[in-house]
Amino acid sequence: MSKLREWIDARFPLTSMWQTHLSQYYVPKNLNFFYHFGSLALLVLVNQIVTGIWLAMSYTPSAEEAFASIEYIMRDVAYGSILRLLHSTGASAFFVVIYLHMFRGLLYGSYQKPRELVWAFGMLIYLTLMAEAFTGYLLPWGQMSYWGAQVIISLFGAVPVVGADLAQWIRGDYVVSGITLNRFFALHVIALPLVIFGLVVLHLLALHEVGSNNPDGVDINKHVDENGKPLDGVAFHPYYTVKDLVGVVVFLAVFCSIVFFFPDMGGYVLEKANFEQANPLKTPEHIAPVWYFTPFYAILRAIPDKFMGVMAMGAAVAVLFVLPWLDRSPVKSMRYKGWPSRIGLLLFCAVFVILGILGVQPLDPLRLVLSRVCTFLYFACFLLMPFYTLMERTKPVPERVTG
Ligand code: HEM
Repeated sequence: MSKLREWIDARFPLTSMWQTHLSQYYVPKNLNFFYHFGSLALLVLVNQIVTGIWLAMSYTPSAEEAFASIEYIMRDVAYGSILRLLHSTGASAFFVVIYLHMFRGLLYGSYQKPRELVWAFGMLIYLTLMAEAFTGYLLPWGQMSYWGAQVIISLFGAVPVVGADLAQWIRGDYVVSGITLNRFFALHVIALPLVIFGLVVLHLLALHEVGSNNPDGVDINKHVDENGKPLDGVAFHPYYTVKDLVGVVVFLAVFCSIVFFFPDMGGYVLEKANFEQANPLKTPEHIAPVWYFTPFYAILRAIPDKFMGVMAMGAAVAVLFVLPWLDRSPVKSMRYKGWPSRIGLLLFCAVFVILGILGVQPLDPLRLVLSRVCTFLYFACFLLMPFYTLMERTKPVPERVTG
């Protein structure tokens, strides 16, 4: 084996890559529960790619056959129903994991200097993931697939001057049709996964350049031993590979319970209307996107003007991109930030959940007012950040991690 390794090392940096990224990559020893979600995101990504490849073997991307081919997968293909449910539940699990991963970033200021690029690549992954989920949702060609796509693509029509042409260009037709389905299939199975994969590589390279943050937000490289090894760091492998495995087991237990026992999650993961084939002549009574898009959908509906609504929805995502430059606090972790920052984060989370709930429900006057208040608070949390993070009183940050 060692001869083989030498042979490879003379031609490819195998051992040095292993050392740089695993056995001699030092990670703070105090990483907690929230640090499991990066490796879990990788796990879900692999699940989506593997189950997706097998689904593509039996799926037919045409308006005439798509719906029936999903039924065929669910009923006749060997292990087809498990493959499909692993994939559809995996999509929701991806967003659960990513939202918790992003929340960790907000909690411990992981986006702050020197991790701005780690965050920016993360945000690009998030955007691409939304496009991936959106294109994938059209593929079963159910009622909600069809009308959801119709509503979202028509939003591009709100862009002044070029809007109508733009929407038609995206659809490839005057209405959502088999042509749209075909191009969404191409984007969903190859173009967007390639982009996501590339971005994940960049995300991890950027992270390994600067090292992981931690719940105290202190730099572990300030205190090193005589060999230059951080005193508060442990090698990623074997310490965190083993710790992450515990997270993987717990995650799989929850994930598999849902896949096997509640695959539609009461209509939130697989929506009821999608068990009916797409019918361009019959609009469903109530159209709502899947749960992970609903906070942004609620912001869109809160604004009376369609174009301004689209802009507000875009701004709600865009503001997250510039977060590293909005937070002016001298400390990273919420443990040492002041009350205004803590209230800001709590408020943001509450508002995001409320908007998410509002986004699945039909609009009435009360919900409209609530959506507007929440939209206002959503932006206030971010736009006031440069002021409250500069003005608040922070606690002293310890020199070393606190355990
Ligand atoms: C496919 C999606 C993603 C994968 C596979 C992924 C993977 C990872 C992994 C393995 C880590 C190191 C372990 C950890 O800290 O949890 C990490 C760290 C990080 N990720 Fe992601 N990530 C993804 C998406 C995102 C998104 C959407 C964001 C935010 C917009 C983000 C922001 C961060 C940040 C700031 C860190 C550094 C955290 C710290 O050191 O405290 N990631 N990511």
